[in-house]
Amino acid sequence: CGIVGYIGLPEKTSQHGALDVLLEGLRRLEYRGYDSAGVATVASGTVSMRKKSGKLANLLSEIEAEPVAEASVGIGHTRWATHGAPNDLNAHPHLADGGKLAVIHNGIIENFAQLKAKLLAAGEVFASETDTEVAAKLIAQHFTATGGDLTEAMRLAANQLEGAFTLLAVHADQADRVVASRRNSPLVVGLGDGENFLGSDVSGFIDFTREAVELEQDQVVTITTDDVAIINFDGSPAEGKRFSVNWDAAAAEKGGFGTFMEKEIHDQPKAVEDTLLGRTDASGRLVLDELRIDPEELKNISKIIVLACGTSAYAGMVAKYAIEHWVRVPVEVELSHEFRYRDPIIDDSTLIVSLSQSGETMDTLMAVRYAKEQGARTLAICNTNGSTIPRESDAVLYTHAGPEIAVASTKAFLAQITASYLLGLYMAQLRGKLFQGEIDDILADLHKIPGKIQEVLDGGEQIRELAREMAQAPSVLFLGRHVGYPVAMEGALKLKEIAYIHAEGFAAGELKHGPIALIDQGQPVFVVVPSPHGRDSLHAKVVSNIQEVRARGAKTITVAEAGDADVVDYSEQVFYVPETQPLLMPLLTTVPLQIFACALAAEKGYDVDQPRNLAKSVTVE
Ligand code: G6P
Repeated sequence: CGIVGYIGLPEKTSQHGALDVLLEGLRRLEYRGYDSAGVATVASGTVSMRKKSGKLANLLSEIEAEPVAEASVGIGHTRWATHGAPNDLNAHPHLADGGKLAVIHNGIIENFAQLKAKLLAAGEVFASETDTEVAAKLIAQHFTATGGDLTEAMRLAANQLEGAFTLLAVHADQADRVVASRRNSPLVVGLGDGENFLGSDVSGFIDFTREAVELEQDQVVTITTDDVAIINFDGSPAEGKRFSVNWDAAAAEKGGFGTFMEKEIHDQPKAVEDTLLGRTDASGRLVLDELRIDPEELKNISKIIVLACGTSAYAGMVAKYAIEHWVRVPVEVELSHEFRYRDPIIDDSTLIVSLSQSGETMDTLMAVRYAKEQGARTLAICNTNGSTIPRESDAVLYTHAGPEIAVASTKAFLAQITASYLLGLYMAQLRGKLFQGEIDDILADLHKIPGKIQEVLDGGEQIRELAREMAQAPSVLFLGRHVGYPVAMEGALKLKEIAYIHAEGFAAGELKHGPIALIDQGQPVFVVVPSPHGRDSLHAKVVSNIQEVRARGAKTITVAEAGDADVVDYSEQVFYVPETQPLLMPLLTTVPLQIFACALAAEKGYDVDQPRNLAKSVTVE
């Protein structure tokens, strides 16, 4: 989501009215993708709020129809729904304290259900389904209790919240300030002369100032016309980090990266972390409360069919390995467009799991509808709240990758895999197939993944260098086994999609049944190597596959677990990823392949974000 906040002296405001500043900021933040937008301004002791689902143009016509008063303080928001459908009611800002307090929010408040239950019990009435309104009510309570101190109210409320959030608030009774807080979610302050700004990133105010202050974790900031005061959540004073923005507006949108795809590859630690947020109760048990499907039904499922297209279908293949291993239920994975036309065997004990970033892919939608007609239960794993596929499914598990702009999917893929693991673990918990201790261990390892992805990203230069050297390669092959097989397929797909290079992914075991005939002097072959600590002799088998292709002249590039010495002698280059459980490895081994494709396409001068002939969301069959 995008966030902006503004406060200026009246004479400043005559240059840029609060509303203009907010709308300009929101326009700049549009690139982040959103499903609704809203603003609130404060003038003469009243808050004026306008919010609307859909594009900014909808909000603008709303404001035109019902203008807001001239003001010099306000907040604005573009929303990407996480809790609650993308409609007018759930759009931000949210009001509390009899309409005198307006709050906007980015992120996911993990303990919102518990907090909401308490507030409901205390007689509070909610207008929306959002976690944000819970935060608004808390801030309002503390505002009253502190005798009208918005900064202190924000601090006290922030201390009650768990998860990831950036919150901004304005109050009609203390209209000389905008107060914000942040935890695990970005917030920057823009410094002006007689005016100050807040933004979820610098694009929110780049048209007005290039002097900025970055907040640290767990801090509250109060901006007034002439001051920026920062405190920690414990109330102690703090200082932010000053910096000057030297990007142009276009680069700022991409977080300083050259392309959205690079930015999204770098967003992956957060995409995985956010997808894991809020999925366990206080005792550490998985609760997928948004699932909307009766646990009893999930217990009685006799077969799962995963349906998806493109990258999402490879996430589905990873899901199969994990779910079958943990839940001991048969899982089939099928391309949506093939499924429907082959007279598949489904009944009411079949669970269809559809995977779709957009939730609008026509092939997948039609396959889900068909399965429903045949009596199957349908569950959508989707990144777009309120889109068609989750709306038409019995159950839904949202990934929280945030909007994905680049056509070739990256962060949504890792988020889909993460959500598939959660579903598998949840079903294993329900059906008693894993001990709670085993589930806890896997969850603990999953929570370590974001840091490990960051390590892979930090070592990205080695991969980019190789990509630049290999820009002229006419064809690249990818091999993998077990969960490394879908990773190999995804590595090849990325290269086809954005670098227009012939690329194929194979199951390494299939090599000798055909593909090995392709190997010639200098043929580049990427090999995704399983963990040497995995079960069976998978690792040894893949190491011999590497030797086989190398003996026939291949240039072998391996992606292996840190410390794996067995691959060194047979690899032209090794990219190491940190150690994790064998089933979780795709969350790490995919990343070097994404970086490789992205750098190679950039080296060739292609438009990485908008590859030829492809669409982000294919809404025709
Ligand atoms: C298109 C996109 C791919 C994507 C596929 C499935 O082909 O170009 O990047 O993987 O659709 O999209 P979905 O939104 O259903 O995940």
